[in-house]
Amino acid sequence: MATLEAIKYSRGKLLVLDQLRLPHEHHYDEVSTSEEAFDCIRSMRVRGAPAIAIVAALAHAVELHNGSCTATSPDEAVSYINSRLDYLRESRPTAVDLFNAITLLKAAVRAAVVEGLAHPEAKDAILAAYIEAAENILAKDLENNTSIGAFGAAWLQEQYSAGPERKISVLTHCNTGSLATSGHGTALGIIRSLHAQNLLQHAYCTETRPYNQGSRLTSFELVYEGIPSTLITDSMAGALFALHRESSNIGAVIVGADRVVRNGDTANKIGTYSLAVLARHHGVKFVVAAPTTSIDLETQTGAGIKIEERKKEELTQISGAVVNPDGSVDARKTARVAIADQRIGVWNPAFDVTPHDLIDAIVTEKGTVVKGPDGHFNFSQVMPDRWAAIVKE
Ligand code: MRU
Repeated sequence: MATLEAIKYSRGKLLVLDQLRLPHEHHYDEVSTSEEAFDCIRSMRVRGAPAIAIVAALAHAVELHNGSCTATSPDEAVSYINSRLDYLRESRPTAVDLFNAITLLKAAVRAAVVEGLAHPEAKDAILAAYIEAAENILAKDLENNTSIGAFGAAWLQEQYSAGPERKISVLTHCNTGSLATSGHGTALGIIRSLHAQNLLQHAYCTETRPYNQGSRLTSFELVYEGIPSTLITDSMAGALFALHRESSNIGAVIVGADRVVRNGDTANKIGTYSLAVLARHHGVKFVVAAPTTSIDLETQTGAGIKIEERKKEELTQISGAVVNPDGSVDARKTARVAIADQRIGVWNPAFDVTPHDLIDAIVTEKGTVVKGPDGHFNFSQVMPDRWAAIVKE
């Protein structure tokens, strides 16, 4: 069975699976310009920190490949690329992968300038350097996710002395699978790896109100992959932990990250913080799966993270496929219904920040980071260059 693909790319062509139509309909949109990418990201047709960065980077690669850059000098080409990236940066404010990708892409372009400025075809070399760097982001993300899956599964196996006779059950929140990344996934990648190694007893996923990434996307991926799984509402997590406390049957909560800052504080989908508090109360390990592209060393604590606030209709209305009187789902008919008095005031932060002290491990593609004796995470081992450039010890 083919794995789910949110992003299909070949040079000059980018197709993005419209996640607003899932799980009922599989429709790919062609995304060929920065404007189309901006709209795709802003409207949440693509979501998840790594996927957002990849779509932004590749959409600009496609427009460059198709001749959008009319610059006549290398300097003009650089200004054009930088201004398109600065525009894409404004599409969503919390996930840091996009910002890290932009920094990397600008550096690749700068390096091409340094190498080729005197060359008559320097402009073409600059465009080629950008396209190559953007394509690398896609390839590297898949590699990273596979490593995160392996490191996370190994860490959990060690914590619980897990094996085929002693399997682990886990709870996850939001969507962190193939749909949120280039493939395999981060937190869902660990679950996938546990399952592949015959170490997974059961995966629980939360609905993830208000936008339902869990029920719409994660439960779809879990069913698609044949992973033994159960959907719960966000408010059922405490009851689930309490039910399993005696048997220690829930081994871990595994979540992704939109941004991990220098001290380990982690912004992720709203509801993550509540799960971390519940997990600590019930003695359940709390694990964050984050590629180093989701780590922001420049921001010292979670207080520095800008949290996106979204429109009130995400709470007061809901849309989905129509259920026929016989119980079958008609994917071709959708309906939007009101589920609250439309006059009520609403607060709708899309993310929250889990303080580092509630997190037991942060799994990156370079290895699993745990807190040192000072109670802090230290990322110098997993990202030595960026750490040395930013952190003056
Ligand atoms: O608002 P979204 O749907 O883009 O949020 C997605 C999440 O919060 C994910 O949990 C996060 O990006 C983790 S990364 C795989």
